[in-house]
Amino acid sequence: MMSVKKAVFPVAGLGTRFRPVTSVVPKEMLPIVDKPLIDYAIEEAVDAGITDLIFVVSPDKHIIVKYLSDKGNIEAIFEGKENENEASRLNIEFVFQNEPLGLGHAVLCAQEVVGADPFAVLLPDDLVVSEVSCLAQMVDKYGEVGGNFIAVVEVEPQQTHMYGMLKVDEYLNGLLKVTAMVEKPSIEKAPSNFAIVGRYILDAGIFETLRQQGTGSGRELQLTEAMDTLLLQQDFYGLRFSGVRYDCGEKVGLLEANIACFLGRPDLSMRAQKVVERFALSSLENGEDK
Ligand code: G1P
Repeated sequence: MMSVKKAVFPVAGLGTRFRPVTSVVPKEMLPIVDKPLIDYAIEEAVDAGITDLIFVVSPDKHIIVKYLSDKGNIEAIFEGKENENEASRLNIEFVFQNEPLGLGHAVLCAQEVVGADPFAVLLPDDLVVSEVSCLAQMVDKYGEVGGNFIAVVEVEPQQTHMYGMLKVDEYLNGLLKVTAMVEKPSIEKAPSNFAIVGRYILDAGIFETLRQQGTGSGRELQLTEAMDTLLLQQDFYGLRFSGVRYDCGEKVGLLEANIACFLGRPDLSMRAQKVVERFALSSLENGEDK
């Protein structure tokens, strides 16, 4: 089985939920403590053994290209870490998605650079705080069974319209075998409460499936739909990873991720904790605990 060395980061999204700030700063550059959101996905990928990082950007996001083209910024992510020396050896490439035609289209844009190898996809909006990198947990299981992998979390029934949702069977070693997928179904149409988190390991066969799906009359190309087609020919597994996932594509999710990361920083945690406690206390006093 081939190892996973390449990762695609779709970062061409419009960031409408964070307007007006995203009219000057791409959402992937919004701060989590003192680092842009994108740094966390890069760190997670490299911790999983990824050496080739492919960013799918839109033409107006030159700030991301500028930031990631500066080796010093990449090296700073790994400063003081065990894999510090690997940072200077990473291959970083940019691919342009000229039209906002959806996540599937963004992935398809990376085909030429990815080639025939299995590859990871990381959506930087999803920040996972975990002891072992979430993608590393997936790569580890992928090494055992192959196929395609998706990170999953269980969500509340009323949240199914926000995620790709999975139909699953239990499989060996805590893995889930995916039998169908549907993008953002209503509560009635959701096949389970297992939702797709933005971490995937995919076979290069997904490119042909996406191509066949086509964008028709300018409609978005859905990655979930292509995966649902590919699972008729290939195995897909869902991994309930250990760690906590924060939805930084949404305002309060970004706040939560910031609180978690502040509290996880030895140099800041004491002061951050006092702030959090002070707010918790004042909302209790004001009877806002409901
Ligand atoms: C995308 C995917 C969806 C997945 C989600 C995870 O949606 O299309 O299947 O569940 O990411 O964050 P988006 O959040 O970009 O709308």
